[in-house]
Order: sequence, then structure tokens, then C-alpha cells
Amino acid sequence: MLERRQPKGKEPVLILGIETSCDETAAAVVNDRREILANVVASQVLDHQRYGGVVPEIAARAHVTHLDGLIARAMRDAKITWAQLDGVAATAGPGLIGGVLVGLVTGKAIAAAAGVPLIAVNHLEGHALSARLAAGVAYPFLLLLVTGGHCQLVEVASLGRYRQLGTTIDDAVGEAFDKVARLLGLGYPGGPEIERAALAGVAARVPLPRPMVGRQGCDFSFSGLKTAVRRVVEERSPLTPQLVNDIAASFQSTVAEVLADRTANAMAMFRERHPGPGRLVVAGGVAANSALRTRLEQTAKRHGFTMIAPPKELCTDNAAMIAWAGVERLQAGLTDGLDAAGRARWPLAELVGPLQ
Ligand code: KG4
Ligand code: ZN
Repeated sequence: MLERRQPKGKEPVLILGIETSCDETAAAVVNDRREILANVVASQVLDHQRYGGVVPEIAARAHVTHLDGLIARAMRDAKITWAQLDGVAATAGPGLIGGVLVGLVTGKAIAAAAGVPLIAVNHLEGHALSARLAAGVAYPFLLLLVTGGHCQLVEVASLGRYRQLGTTIDDAVGEAFDKVARLLGLGYPGGPEIERAALAGVAARVPLPRPMVGRQGCDFSFSGLKTAVRRVVEERSPLTPQLVNDIAASFQSTVAEVLADRTANAMAMFRERHPGPGRLVVAGGVAANSALRTRLEQTAKRHGFTMIAPPKELCTDNAAMIAWAGVERLQAGLTDGLDAAGRARWPLAELVGPLQ
């Protein structure tokens, strides 16, 4: 075993982050000064493309193949040795369990060999705190978390203190993008494909229903919208390239309207507990969408909130956000044993922060 480092004094705290919960294999090194010293991501898009979605067994195998090399590259990019690490943060869920276990077990092995603590990070907390890494956003803030598997509005009071205000009652928003892209014959993942097609489309040519808009609360629903798109596709097939673009534009602007409406209600709920100017953080893969960002920024402004969205490479899955969650947890004394379990399901509300 390597000798444990002495307390660092004024030197930055260095964390290695590992992310393997879905179809990106990623490693990063981040310090407590919010500097990203290395951030490498290997996308498995090509491995899954012909199946139109992520195949768990293929994903797990690809993580096994690529993770060691990516970690070595991240350490090289950061120009550090194992002995300089202060901790290893690995995603422990939620996600595809095979992939989660590959990253978590690798993280445990490195933590044990380097003699540093392991931080078993919740992937959603990684997304939630990504804007603190990118822009130093202060607590508390309202979080709109939009990924392939989740669509939630969350009051983030402080590290580990999350209260869900609203969630989807059926599909996640990224899932809706992916399914609609498939209906339109566009590639996987669907979000970026729809965003590209929408640039050349006219939304008003294809009216679609706007689920939940105008209702109380801030839950979401996207399956009716997806069904409406399917109906249009069935009625108007074969689709011309222009019609594909028009449907993509209409779908995207409808999603923007639904997200803006639900988030406006959440801002009112958030303000009851945290008066004054508010911060809205938009995070997760779907937050990479420029049209959605613009729309949410306008809504936030109208309600006296400032919107912060991380740069796009920190919105989609990456290990820098996992390393950062590790920095915050390590500094709060919240580390995990080498018996930490990987979890397929792990809601944010089950997390705990430091004792107040
Ligand atoms: O956060 P993420 O990378 O992985 C999960 O934790 O799920 O999110 C992936 C989701 C996919 O559904 C993908 O289609 C969507 O994010 N996405 C986008 C865009 N880029 C990625 N959705 C809309 N517009 C985009 N530009
Ligand atoms: Zn994610």
C-alpha cells in the first residue's frame, strides 16, 4: 500500500472521479478550487446505435474494456500520481447496475491501494452540484434536473438536503427526446438529433398538446406528447425531410413550454421557503439543449430568478461532476466504507448531508 499523504495545509484537495452508470465511461480529476485538471469521456454511442438505445450488457462490457485506460489518461492529463490523491469518488447509482459495479469496484480498488477514502456518489447529486463546480453557485437553489432517466424539480437546501417538489408521472424528458427521435427515424441519442432537425423546422405547422401546462403543482408528463407525435407520424407517413424538421421543432418547443410552466410553479414554491432573489440551476443531459436553455432563462428572469446551466460538456454524463460531489462530501466528512453497495435505484431524497 502507498503511504498515506500528510495533511495538505494550503495545497488543493485532489479527487479522482469515475462515472460508469449509463453509456459513457468517464474519468476526471478535480480539486477543491473548482479546477478541472482532467476530464475524459468515452462515449459508447456507436456500440448502442444500431439497437436504438442502451443495451445494459454491452454497456457493462465496454466499461470494463475502457475504464482503466481512461483513468490512466486522466491521471496523466492532471500530471499527478496515485500518492497525490486525497480521495476517489465513484458513481454508486442510480443506473444500470452492471456498469455501476464496474466503476464502483475500480474506485474501491484505487482507494484501497492509494490509502485514501472512497466517496460513493449518487449520480443525480453529481448532476445537481455540477453548477457549483462550473459557476460556484451558492446554496440554496432550485434545481431542474433533466436527464435520460429523470425529470425532477428539487429544492437544494445544502449538500445532501434535497426536497423533491415535482417529478414526471411517466416518461423522463430525455427518454421522450430519444423515443420521438426514433419515431422520426433520427439517430440515437435523440436529444442532439432533434435539436439539429428543429433548427430547420417550423413548429407552428404541427400543433401538439401541452401536457400539464396550466395545472397546479410541478409534476411533468411526457407520454401523451410522445403518443401525439406517433399519431402525426402514422397519419402523415411517408414523412418528408421538412415534415421531420417541423415535428422536431414543434416537439422541442412544446417541451420547452411544459418545462417553463412547471418550473414557474416550482419557483413560487421555492420562494415561500427561501425569500429573495432565487437561483435556478438546470442540469442533466437535456440541459445541453440551447432552445430549452433560452426558454428557461426567460422564465427565470420573469420570476426574479437567475438561471445557471453548466457548460454542455458538464450537462451530459461526465466524471468531473462526480469528482466534485466527492470534493464536497469529503470536505463535509462524508466518506464511505469499502463495503459501499452499488444501487440501480437511489432517489435524491434518500441522501443525507452533514449533521447540522
Ligand atoms: O444526463 P445524461 O447524459 O444521462 C443520464 O443521466 O440519463 O442525459 C442523457 C439524455 C438523453 O436522453 C439525451 O437524448 C439527452 O440527455 N440529451 C439532449 C441533448 N443532449 C443530450 N436532449 C435534448 N437536447 C440535447 N441537445
Ligand atoms: Zn446523467
